[in-house]
Amino acid sequence: MDQTVLVTGGAGFIGSHTVLELLQAGFDVIVLDNFLNSDPSVLARIKRLAQEPLSLGLSFKHFEMDVRDEAGLIEVFKAHRIAGVIHFAGLKAVAESFEQPLAYWDTNVGGTMALARVMKRFDVNHLVFSSSALVYGLPKLIPIQENSELDAVNPYGRTKLICEKFLTDVCFADSRFNVALLRYFNPVGAHSSGLLGESPNGIPNNLMPLVCQVASGERAQLSIFGDDYDTADGTCIRDYIHVMDLAQGHVLTLKSMLGLLSLPALSRLSVLNFGTGQGVSVKELVDCFEAVNRVKVPHSIAPRRDGDVPILVANPNKAFESLGWKANRNLISMCQDAWRWQQQNGLHL
Ligand code: NAD
Ligand code: UFG
Repeated sequence: MDQTVLVTGGAGFIGSHTVLELLQAGFDVIVLDNFLNSDPSVLARIKRLAQEPLSLGLSFKHFEMDVRDEAGLIEVFKAHRIAGVIHFAGLKAVAESFEQPLAYWDTNVGGTMALARVMKRFDVNHLVFSSSALVYGLPKLIPIQENSELDAVNPYGRTKLICEKFLTDVCFADSRFNVALLRYFNPVGAHSSGLLGESPNGIPNNLMPLVCQVASGERAQLSIFGDDYDTADGTCIRDYIHVMDLAQGHVLTLKSMLGLLSLPALSRLSVLNFGTGQGVSVKELVDCFEAVNRVKVPHSIAPRRDGDVPILVANPNKAFESLGWKANRNLISMCQDAWRWQQQNGLHL
C-alpha cells in the first residue's frame, strides 16, 4: 500500500491491537509511545503476530517519546512521509483525573495540540482521534447518538471534549485538515492469541482487568461501585466492545479518510460512536465472566465511585452506515479472550 501511519500510544491496549490490524491491512507503521502505561515488549509481540505482512517488506518502527515533545515530533515528521495519524496517547482513568487534573490536561490537551501543530507544519492532514463516550456526560436518551448534547462530568471526559472542540476549530480553519473523532464506549477483551491484551502499569482502574486479576487470585476481591443506581440490578450499565472490533474500526476509518474504501469517504470532520448498542451491567459482566470461564470472582458492594455515569450505551448505526463497520464479537468472546490473556500473562508482561 506504501502508506505510513503514525500511531501515538501504539504500545497501549487499543493502540497495540490497532497497530497489528494496520500492518495486516498493508500499512507501514510508526509507533510513538513513552511507555508510561505500557511495556516495550508489546512491540516484539506485534512483530511476532505480524510476521507475514512484515516478511513482505512492510516497515514497522517505533520511537520512545512523549507526544508533547514537539521537537522530537518534528524530527519524526521530517524523516518520514506520513499519510495519517492515529492519536491514542493519553491518560484515561476517571478517578485519577480528579486527583491529577494538571497531568490530564497537560497530556491529553497539550499532547493533542503539539501533535496538531506539527501535523500542520508538515502538511499531514488526516487525524483519527481517540475520544470517549464520556463526552456525553449524563445522556438524556439511551442509546446515545452522535448528535446528543455534550457535557462531560469528570476532568478526564472534559479533556476529551475540549480536544474535540479544538480539533473542530482546526478543521474549520483549514480546508485540507481532516479529523475523525471516534467516541469509544468500553473496550475490553484481548487478541485471540493471548499475546496482546490490556496490561496497565500498576493497579488497573478499569473493570475487566480487575475482574481478571481477582479471578486469578492476584487480588482478593472486586469492589462493585454502587448497586443503588436506577438500573435493573442497581449497578452501572456500559456498552462493552471487543478491542479487536474497535481496532478494525480504526483501520476502516483511516482507509475511508485516505479514499481507500469503496464507500464514499468520511466527511472532513466526522464523529462516530464505537460500541455494540448493547448495555451490560457490572453484575452481568461478572456473572458472564464466571460462567464462561468457570471461575469465581469474589465481589462485594462498595460506595459509588466519583464521576461515574449510571448508563452509557451507544447507538452505533452511523459507523455502520459510513464505514460498513459493526461489532462482531459478543460479551462471551470478550470474557474468554480477556481471561486467556490473563492466564498467559499474569500481572505484567
Ligand atoms: P493505554 O493506557 O493502554 O494506552 C495509552 C498509551 O499511550 C500507553 O501505551 C501509554 O504509555 C501512552 N502514553 C501515555 N501518555 C503518553 C505521552 N505523554 N506520550 C506518549 N505516549 C503516552 O490506554 P488505551 O485504553 O489503549 O486508550 C487509548 C486511548 O483511547 C486514550 O486516549 C484513551 O483516553 C482513549 N479511550 C480509552 C478507553 C478505554 O476504556 N480503554 C475508552 C475511551 C477512550
Ligand atoms: N467498576 C466497578 N469496580 C471496579 C472498577 C469499575 O464496579 O473496580 C465499574 C464502574 O463503576 C463502572 C464500570 O465498572 O460502572 C466500568 O468502569 P471502568 O472503569 O472500566 O470504565 P469507565 O466506564 O469508568 O470508563 C471507561 C474508560 C474511559 C472511557 C469510558 C468510555 O476508562 O477511558 O470507559 O465509556 F472514556
